[in-house]
Amino acid sequence: MKILITGGAGFIGSNLAKRLVAEGHTVVILDNLLRGNKLDKETFNQIVFIQGDVRDESLVIDAAKGCDLVFHFAAVLGVDIVADNPVETMDVEVIGTRNVVNACEINNVKYLMYASTSGIYSHSAIVKNALTEEILVDPRTSYAMAKRYNEIYLASHFEEKGLNVLSLRFFNIYGSNQDNRMVVPLFFEQATTGQPLTVYGNGKQTRDFTYIDDTVESCVRLMRIRGCHIVNIANEQEWSILDLAQLIKKITNSDSRIIFVDAPKKRYDYEVERRVGSSIKLKNLTNYKPETNLIQGLEKIVSINYQNHIHLTL
Ligand SMILES: NC(=O)c1ccc[n+]([C@@H]2O[C@H](COP(=O)([O-])OP(=O)(O)OC[C@H]3O[C@@H](n4cnc5c(N)ncnc54)[C@H](O)[C@@H]3O)[C@@H](O)[C@H]2O)c1
Repeated sequence: MKILITGGAGFIGSNLAKRLVAEGHTVVILDNLLRGNKLDKETFNQIVFIQGDVRDESLVIDAAKGCDLVFHFAAVLGVDIVADNPVETMDVEVIGTRNVVNACEINNVKYLMYASTSGIYSHSAIVKNALTEEILVDPRTSYAMAKRYNEIYLASHFEEKGLNVLSLRFFNIYGSNQDNRMVVPLFFEQATTGQPLTVYGNGKQTRDFTYIDDTVESCVRLMRIRGCHIVNIANEQEWSILDLAQLIKKITNSDSRIIFVDAPKKRYDYEVERRVGSSIKLKNLTNYKPETNLIQGLEKIVSINYQNHIHLTL
């Protein structure tokens, strides 16, 4: 297949591109390099790279020419960055997604996979053991609102124009080569540079951490699904932020302290006490669910990046 990945130089997109290239697909990447280029040299040499903005309509139309499928991953993200740039965040989501949909229509691309977020659940009540795609969502930030808007916008395009659309609600994806906008790489950086690990609040808030290889596997398997679906990409395991800090401190054999600080005011809308996602729908659609638990995932990161680490699982 010929596949366009917007935001393909980013953390998830670059890992997905590597896998798609290895499987023999032709990959086109459109990215404005807002976060630098996370593609490794080997992958970069095997893809078509277009440096530009997803808000540039004609560029997106050109990029999608001859494609069978588009992964639309370009976005502004990171809690602090989004809180400081709500207008740009919304613009990239809303104008970018409109351009991608338009480009699909003009180029007769029949299949679009969109990166949504578990952030749209926000304070939704966790029914039974995990958040399912059917429950009423509660987006409270510009980022989460725009993601939810796009899920609905895409669903209407399926109804009206027959564009197959999958919205993927990613739950805290982590792995090697991620930058410290996210909590896992931030704690690694703090633990390995002698800085204290900064935990917001009492650290009892939970998240569901999904390893990057499992995320890529989920995306690849979902490429076979047609129709209109919203699918959680989650590990179904709940870990507190304090647990995470303690694990990373231990695995890196770090002397750093763990300190508790109040979350900055601009983060309040993002601070959710519990978040854990159900993978039942993903499993039903693909016969697969993410299996790498947090300890195994952290072990993988250290084995790639750090020597002399402690084995947590021994
Ligand atoms: N990483 C996570 O835990 C997570 C969780 C929920 C949702 N998501 C979603 O998954 C997608 C990928 O996330 P990621 O972790 O790889 O983030 P990332 O920041 O590493 O990748 C996003 C990419 O989009 C590019 N980009 C930003 N604005 C652009 C623009 N205007 N035009 C073109 N390119 C632009 C950036 O340069 C970057 O390479 C995003 O849509 C994000 O909202 C990620």
